[in-house]
Amino acid sequence: MPRLDTVIFPVAGMGTRMLPATKVTPKELLPVYDTPLLHFAVEEALAAGARRLVMVSHPDKAAIEDWFAPQPELEASLAAKGKADLLEVVRSSRLPDGVEVTFVMQDEPLGLGHAVLCGAEAVVGGGPVGVILPDDLILGSPALAEMAEAWTGAMRSLVAAQEVPRERVSSYGIFDCGEGTPERGPVRAATGFVEKPDPDDAPSRLAAVGRYVLGSAIFDVLRGTGTGAGGEVQLTDAIAAMGGIHAFRFSGTRHDCGSKDGMVEATLAVQAMRHGSARAAPHLRVAAE
Ligand code: G1P
Repeated sequence: MPRLDTVIFPVAGMGTRMLPATKVTPKELLPVYDTPLLHFAVEEALAAGARRLVMVSHPDKAAIEDWFAPQPELEASLAAKGKADLLEVVRSSRLPDGVEVTFVMQDEPLGLGHAVLCGAEAVVGGGPVGVILPDDLILGSPALAEMAEAWTGAMRSLVAAQEVPRERVSSYGIFDCGEGTPERGPVRAATGFVEKPDPDDAPSRLAAVGRYVLGSAIFDVLRGTGTGAGGEVQLTDAIAAMGGIHAFRFSGTRHDCGSKDGMVEATLAVQAMRHGSARAAPHLRVAAE
């Protein structure tokens, strides 16, 4: 399987939509049933073959760095009490050998495009990079791994996509698929990509979901990308400027964990997985209870 060596995780946001839960706990560490949102994202990156995880974080979110630190006292205490099952759960949240996590700080909330550009300094080599927005939890099948599989050198970008109701398009990056752009399996070439359009002007209802595979040229394009929708540097604008845009219909189920109701739905879905009443995501080691 082709693999994505580097995956960038923009995790600097203040999580205001989830207040008061996020007053001191980063939203990426809120539990979905029993597992922090971020852990699902990391498992998905590993399933895509990632060896270098780049967290674009904020100085106020040190708890994210703590999540990746070893917990020898906790492990020793569980071992001493003979709690082998819990010990295994704690150990399975460690990064495997050969995988490293790097932290880069995004001090100001200047937009998703700016966050990805902050990550550039930790990227090694000229291959494509993955981007995962942990807010978008995808269960059932690891979307980024599907995208790594579908990626070809002829593409400049491959972006996860799903249809949304027209009244919701103003919350998303929306693809312009033009007239009759070819659809090959789950991949569809797009002629344009616009961030948070007004529903009356939206070119389609095909919306970007937070998984991207991007050719490394994206970083140079981002350096020259000005502010767009919401006064922020938009990743969507840079992808549109690069051309060679491709939308990818992933096969898993996406939950919007940036919203309270989406978080509840995701929690119920993971509960069903844990109780074996839904097909457990095979890439989630913690699901194998
Ligand atoms: C971001 C992107 C948007 C995309 C969305 C998916 O928006 O800018 O293009 O459709 O993620 O969740 P945000 O949700 O950060 O406003």
